Amino acid sequence: MHFGSDNQPGASARVLDMLVAANLGHTHGYGDDEWTARAEAALAEVFEREVEVFLVPTGTAANTLALACLVRPWQAILCHDQAHILVDESTGVELQSGGARPVGISGGAGKLTPELLASHLARAGSDATHNVLPGALSLSEVSELGLVYSPQELTGLADLAHRHGLKVHVDGARFANAVAASGASAADLSWRAGVDVMSLGATKNGCLAAEAIVFFTKGLAHELPFRRKRAGHLLSKGRLLGAQLVGWLQEGHWLDLARHANSQAALLARELTTLPGVRLAWPCEANEVFVIAPTALAAALRAAGATFYDWYRGALPPGVELGEHELLLRLVTSFASSDAHRDELLAAARAFFHRRHG
Ligand SMILES: Cc1ncc(COP(=O)(O)O)c(C=O)c1O
Repeated sequence: MHFGSDNQPGASARVLDMLVAANLGHTHGYGDDEWTARAEAALAEVFEREVEVFLVPTGTAANTLALACLVRPWQAILCHDQAHILVDESTGVELQSGGARPVGISGGAGKLTPELLASHLARAGSDATHNVLPGALSLSEVSELGLVYSPQELTGLADLAHRHGLKVHVDGARFANAVAASGASAADLSWRAGVDVMSLGATKNGCLAAEAIVFFTKGLAHELPFRRKRAGHLLSKGRLLGAQLVGWLQEGHWLDLARHANSQAALLARELTTLPGVRLAWPCEANEVFVIAPTALAAALRAAGATFYDWYRGALPPGVELGEHELLLRLVTSFASSDAHRDELLAAARAFFHRRHG
């Protein structure tokens, strides 16, 4: 029963088939191949416009290389205080950008808002030499806490950021889940809302290791080829990245995979919250379920073979507290989550309460 993370399953069969097809024959290296070109064309179709695309194997590479193109070494990158770029990418942003600093904005209920951003900007200082002035805003879609920014929410944040001269980056490690959940188009959730560049994640949703840095705004990408090469992220067998994305994007496969993950999470959320003392910390909008649950239930589920993480209680929205014998848990579903595992987890949870209450 695997609910630890959506990077724990392997790859979808269609993606693997495409890799096997791409394995045949000889082709040019370093992204100058038919598979990379097909992936670029597929991304232009998905985003309904011309885009500049750079493929890399990890989300950290995508985020840190993209951000390095947006800011100068003495600037800050504003983000949520739980953002992956801030808490889970070591000092990758600083390394790739030559020193730019991610700065977390706290508060709110799982997402940044224009109000939170405005109040941070009002306190950010104005001395470009002595202070660390922001040069970019980085948002995660799906958000750090499993919520989905609507096109309107993204537009509000991006407009404010642009008015202050900031570029807008989206960490789209779970962008597929956001598109599938919101019903909005990929274009509405990105460039039409003012996003300048996105790290589009495919690894968590059916690929083995493939992420696309997608530039929407002209004039921002010129340093990326050099940065990617010197960081060691330009694969000589670039077709391996291209082929994964071709298989992933073909015929809406990426959204089918994400829809499956989202529906598994919705069902888990619905059923878990029928149990005594189990409640959602915030709504389940994509493929992550954040529940507050008795500590003993978490132990019983683990004893039954379920994997999931205890989550940082500081992430709880203002006013929501954990009881003495409660934990905040994160359960993540994926394209590979099975009905059998989901039902096994729910059965173990129900059995725990039967034992407890007789
Ligand atoms: C929000 C977010 N961004 C980016 C990543 C990608 O990171 P990695 O470098 O592990 O592929 C992850 C993976 O956990 C993530 O959750």
